[in-house]
Amino acid sequence: MMKYENRIGIKTRAQLEKMREAARHVGEILLEIREAAKAGVTTGELNERASRSIERRGVGSSFLGYGPAGASPYPAVMCMSLNEEIVHGIPGPRELKDGDILSLDFGVHVDGWHGDSAVTFPIGEISDDTQRLLSTTRDSLYRGIEQMVPGNRLSDIGHAVQACAEAEGFSVVRQFVGHGIGQALHEPPQIPNYGRKGKGPRLREGMVFAIEPMVCVGTHDVRMLDDDWTAVTADGQNAAHFEHTILITDHGPELLTAVPGSH
Ligand code: MF3
Ligand code: CO
Repeated sequence: MMKYENRIGIKTRAQLEKMREAARHVGEILLEIREAAKAGVTTGELNERASRSIERRGVGSSFLGYGPAGASPYPAVMCMSLNEEIVHGIPGPRELKDGDILSLDFGVHVDGWHGDSAVTFPIGEISDDTQRLLSTTRDSLYRGIEQMVPGNRLSDIGHAVQACAEAEGFSVVRQFVGHGIGQALHEPPQIPNYGRKGKGPRLREGMVFAIEPMVCVGTHDVRMLDDDWTAVTADGQNAAHFEHTILITDHGPELLTAVPGSH
């Protein structure tokens, strides 16, 4: 029987060039939209702006129309999740206001090769506790990325994410996970943001993963809104989300979606 780890794709040099390019566009557009996100602007306007940037660059949206057969296709190019919304919020007429925290989650493809990244940031002033939620969620992503070295096991990533988030008294979402990425936005393996270390397939050079911790102030239980997409915290408290697309190499993890000043 084929071993499970053999199902995780190893990308070739030429494929990685496409992925690097897609990922760079993702990082740049995220930064552009982040800079335009101010009190009074609607999430729909920001989505329009991201659409125009995609068009200008001649790349494709990984999110628009995405969805398992039978489900309602995702209707925008970017996910925008405010405050108690964890992931997959749909842009629309809602205006940003000071004190909000906004998560932008975004993906594009170049010649069929995908990049995927997310960042959460404040609109105007936020409390110290909310700032700690953002910095801890970001830290937990980077603790997970540090584990992405050849020879480690897959579960070492989620273990490190969870330990970082819980050390600050926060909880990690179970219902959504990180993922392999390449010619599909979502490829094997699924990468939970929690678990024991030392389990699962060994990590190898050439694997590319999207690591995406979702961290909550209170309970990690999730409730779905009637739009079929927006996931909110069951207790209505804030959540944050950070994501990078990362290549495993023999000389350390390469953050494909990191551009200067992004996240
Ligand atoms: N980063 C998100 C994820 O991996 C993007 C999916 S949004 C969708 O789940 F619109 F494409 F569904
Ligand atoms: Co993702």
